[in-house]
This record gives sequence, C-alpha cells and structure tokens, in this order.
Amino acid sequence: MDAVERPTFETSAAMEVYQHVERHGTAARHRVREMVDLSPEAFEEALTHLLSKGYIEDDGGTLTLALDVGSVKQHTTNGLTYTIRPAHNDDFEGLVQTIRNVSSDGTYVVAESVAEQLLYEDAVTRHNTVESRVFFVATVDGEVIGWCHLDIPQLDKLRETAQLTVGVREERRGQGIGSQLMQRGLDWAKANGYRKLYNSVPAITENAMVFLEDHGWHTEGIRRNHYTVDGEQVDEVMMAYTFD
Ligand SMILES: CC(C)(COP(=O)(O)OP(=O)(O)OC[C@H]1O[C@@H](n2cnc3c(N)ncnc32)[C@H](O)[C@@H]1OP(=O)(O)O)[C@@H](O)C(=O)NCCC(=O)NCCS
Repeated sequence: MDAVERPTFETSAAMEVYQHVERHGTAARHRVREMVDLSPEAFEEALTHLLSKGYIEDDGGTLTLALDVGSVKQHTTNGLTYTIRPAHNDDFEGLVQTIRNVSSDGTYVVAESVAEQLLYEDAVTRHNTVESRVFFVATVDGEVIGWCHLDIPQLDKLRETAQLTVGVREERRGQGIGSQLMQRGLDWAKANGYRKLYNSVPAITENAMVFLEDHGWHTEGIRRNHYTVDGEQVDEVMMAYTFD
C-alpha cells in the first residue's frame, strides 16, 4: 500500500484487525486473533480481505503493515559504505537512540518530540485514517546512524504538506549522509505529490538553518520567544521547502 493512500475498510472486522496490526507495527497472527473480538471465521475473512487489498502482509505467521516506501540504496563516501532504506519495526531501538543522541543538546526540539512519540506509541511506522509516519534510516554495518522522517497528516486540507525531520549522529557528520537522507525524503515527497514540506528549528541552531538553506529550504516565518532553551527564550524559525 502507498503511504499516502488513506486506508478504507469495507467491514468493521477488517478495520479492527488492521488497527491492531497498525498499532503494533508487527504482530503474530495468533496474537491478533486472540486480541480482537471476532469469531475465527470472521477473523479469517477480515484478514483475507486486508491481505488482498495489500494493506498488511503475512510473513510466515507474522502480520506487518504493508507500506511501500521504496528501495534499499548503498552509498560510499571516503571509504565509508552506508545504506539508506525505509525503516522497519526492528529499527525501533536504534532509531530512538539516534534521535535522542542527535537531540541531546536540547536544541532540536521537534526531533525530541518525535522520539517521545515513538516511545509512547511503541511503533516506528504509523498509517491510519488520522496520521501516517514514514521513516528512512541510514545504517552502517546494520546500525542506525541517521534518519529522515516525514509526518503526514491525513486531513484533506493538509494532504499536500508534510513535516520533515532529519538528523545524523555527530561522529558520522560531514560525509554527505545528511544530504542523502534529505534527498531521499524530498524524492519520496515529490513522487507522492506533496507540494510543501516544513520543519521548525530554534533560531540558535545556525548549522541546521544553513544546512536547510543549502538544500533549498527558506524561512517562512518566525515565532518570537517560542522555545525556552537553558532558561532563555529563543525564537522558532519556521522553514519550508516548496516543490515547483
Ligand atoms: C544537519 C545534519 C543532518 C547534517 O548531516 P551531515 O551528515 O553532516 O550532512 P552532510 O554531510 O550531507 O552535509 C554537511 C556538510 O558536510 C560537508 N560534506 C558534504 N558531503 C561531504 C563529503 N562527501 N565529504 C566531506 N564533507 C562533506 C559539506 O560541507 C556539507 O555542507 P553543505 O550542506 O554546504 O554541502 C546534522 O548536522 C545533524 O543531524 N544536525 C543536528 C540535527 C539538525 O539540526 N537537523 C536539521 C534540522 S532539519
């Protein structure tokens, strides 16, 4: 299923099964059957319907959300080989640690809240009738070292805009990984018909603003004294990327 496609359900049983899998990202088939309030026949019928619609996948008894967000790509720079690919539920811990590592100086407030949201929801990807979340990760030897995240509201009036965050572990910066992650997010958004991306940073994070400007972003607005960082009030710079 496409991540911008809003899931629709023909029966309440199908919706119930989907919601359970979506909520957990991945779940054993027998666990889902135990958890939903359906007869075995109704469960099988709902599952068959969801599998045929391509909303979920059954991999040997493990049910997962079937979101097609692209391929795995390898990059090499200065002798370092890294991979950029869609995140899986198995990346959960590496992803949360990386986001926390990047936002640990307290200045990337939006990313901090993304990490909190992941922890609260205990799932990497979300895709339901209200929200959708897509993550790409950069990995070295299988370890997550960076991410690009798009938060997609499912409201009709906001359908063509998405919030993007990007970050790379400090020890891996300056090698083009952040640029590749950003490009992956931009390519995905463009291919899926988005017209605008946005991201907010505190005015004290000059590097982040320069990075975003170098990648075609512009300042859309400033909210005065929006953040409190180390006891100081700091402006929020609202930045945007507009597709032509
Ligand atoms: C902003 C951030 C994601 C950039 O990540 P990064 O991996 O260092 O990004 P890049 O290496 O692609 O680019 C940074 C600079 O490194 C240098 N660089 C790029 N490719 C390089 C390469 N192959 N070899 C050496 N240096 C390179 C360039 O000077 C580049 O500057 P440019 O943007 O003018 O081209 C990272 O600094 C970060 O996580 N910061 C904290 C979180 C944050 O502020 N996020 C941005 C808000 S959205």
